[in-house]
Amino acid sequence: MCGIVGYVGYRDCTEVLVDALSKLEYRGYDSAGIAVFENEEIKVAKSKGRLADLTAKMEKEGMLHGTSGIGHTRWATHGEPSDRNSHPHGGERVTIVHNGIIENYKSIKDFLLGVGRGFKSDTDTEVIAQLLDYYYDGDPVHTISKVIREIEGSYALGIVFEDFPDTVFAIRRESPLIVGIGENESFIASDVPAILKYTKNYYLLEHDEIAVLSKYSTKIYDLHYKQITKELKTADWDMDAAEKCGFEHFMLKEIFEQPTSIKTTITPRIVDGLPNLEECGITPDILNSFNNIHVVACGTAMHAGVVGKYVIEKLARVPVNVDIASEFRYRAPLVTDKDLVIIISQSGETADSLAAMRLAKKLGAKTLAIVNAKGSSIAREADMLIYTHAGPEIAVASTKAYMVQIAVMYLFAFEIALAKGMIDENECRRLTSLLQKTPEMIENILESKSETQHIASSLIASDSLLYIGRGLDYALSMEGSLKLKEISYIHSESYAAGELKHGTISLISDGTPVIAVATQSELFDKTISNIKEVKARGAKVIIVCRENYEPDSDVADFKFGLPDFDDLLMPMLAVVPLQLIAYYTSVLKGNDVDKPRNLAKSVTVE
Ligand code: M6R
Repeated sequence: MCGIVGYVGYRDCTEVLVDALSKLEYRGYDSAGIAVFENEEIKVAKSKGRLADLTAKMEKEGMLHGTSGIGHTRWATHGEPSDRNSHPHGGERVTIVHNGIIENYKSIKDFLLGVGRGFKSDTDTEVIAQLLDYYYDGDPVHTISKVIREIEGSYALGIVFEDFPDTVFAIRRESPLIVGIGENESFIASDVPAILKYTKNYYLLEHDEIAVLSKYSTKIYDLHYKQITKELKTADWDMDAAEKCGFEHFMLKEIFEQPTSIKTTITPRIVDGLPNLEECGITPDILNSFNNIHVVACGTAMHAGVVGKYVIEKLARVPVNVDIASEFRYRAPLVTDKDLVIIISQSGETADSLAAMRLAKKLGAKTLAIVNAKGSSIAREADMLIYTHAGPEIAVASTKAYMVQIAVMYLFAFEIALAKGMIDENECRRLTSLLQKTPEMIENILESKSETQHIASSLIASDSLLYIGRGLDYALSMEGSLKLKEISYIHSESYAAGELKHGTISLISDGTPVIAVATQSELFDKTISNIKEVKARGAKVIIVCRENYEPDSDVADFKFGLPDFDDLLMPMLAVVPLQLIAYYTSVLKGNDVDKPRNLAKSVTVE
């Protein structure tokens, strides 16, 4: 939800800010803007729409020239997407960019209106700019500390003061922010990929730490103006991680990165052929100590939890409850100090997931975070942590992050099943080695991508479709359905195949597409019967099943065949055609695949 950047150094600042913002556009793309010190004066350029609209505007009206400034890409919360609501926002002497939400903005705005201040936008952000300007006493750090004590909510702020040219100030609470350190240059950014082109070294800013960036030095203070020494971190990604590298879209690149992401995630967690999560703080004793497991997450990450539930319950016989974080946090969940709460999140910043984790801790439960973004809030606050090593996921539609989330759920399930004595070491080894084979099998499936293009071309004229399956296939179809709807804008629902006849089957009419996932041997015949029920009512059926099954014409119109594999691990293979079908449907419809409408990658508002 919004990306912010800042730069101080020797390069052309506009170029750096625009380039860095291009790596953060996944966080929001309703408008973009920059503020640059030009001859010691703050000059602003901003525009509704994408970053490309901002650069087109600057090319027409004049580029900003300087070597320091701040920038923003917006996902609108307060005030419609428009030029006037675009960041940066400024008072007379202070200009800011903001990622987050100011909860008490109304009372501050009333106060400022009462003392004669005027507002130029409908945003909550402008109240911070105006308050900074109102309290400004010639000392930026002192002024920032004073203002911060009055605002409630979440923020990552980049701030420039007219009196302090070539200096950028920054502060954060809840919303992420890093400070990049190069040679004779420094950066701020909401996420590491924005600065990778220039430096891999960065500081993780903690809550309410104030960073002061100038060309030759960067200082960090607490709210009492005490200077803080911090550990300099080094990103382990290279620049390619944030580039498309010849792929048409980030989503396609990320789908193709899945085999590598799985290997990087599971290999360090397998010792002597058995899962070993000790480096993440998870031991057999700890695993044995829980009565119940709750998995709490949002969207795709929650769907990974549903796969985890099926696998953990089957193998380890421990009850697993999967919850949507925004529901969990407000419904007095039945969680005790004997329970484990697993939070799954790609970004590690999802507001509802973070709040759910804090609630779980308050209720005495142990928390385990499965997170992709290093140093994110969820990663930092959890009791135990398993990082997924997917690298940066830029496309808004999550693919490789889901894949590694389920890979970790499998490892976890194998280990807890072994710890509880529900499977023996041989079976655990067998399952673990099957998991290790999945990258190669996925590589083979990716070679059949043209078949999914063909299936996608049969879907683009549809208004609505259904995904159906039983057991793990149902768990997976939830993700297939979300993927398709979020980027193709075609309505779709996932349904347990056996439940259709209790109402939903009335939606089927001549030509209604149904994507049926049928990979679970024990349930196969039952799923085929359900498929026949929709086919008999006119559905156009696309079946995702094992290669060796040849559907009759009363079952399916198209088949996507998967290699034969253990039922338990089939979701890791079957998700790939579902991702590709969604991707190509979006491409064929001419949609903006990586930046679907109304969405943003990191959902830091509830
Ligand atoms: O960063 P998180 O994994 O916590 O994000 C959760 C959801 O917002 C996310 O998975 C969302 O559903 C994706 N856009 C789906 O592709």
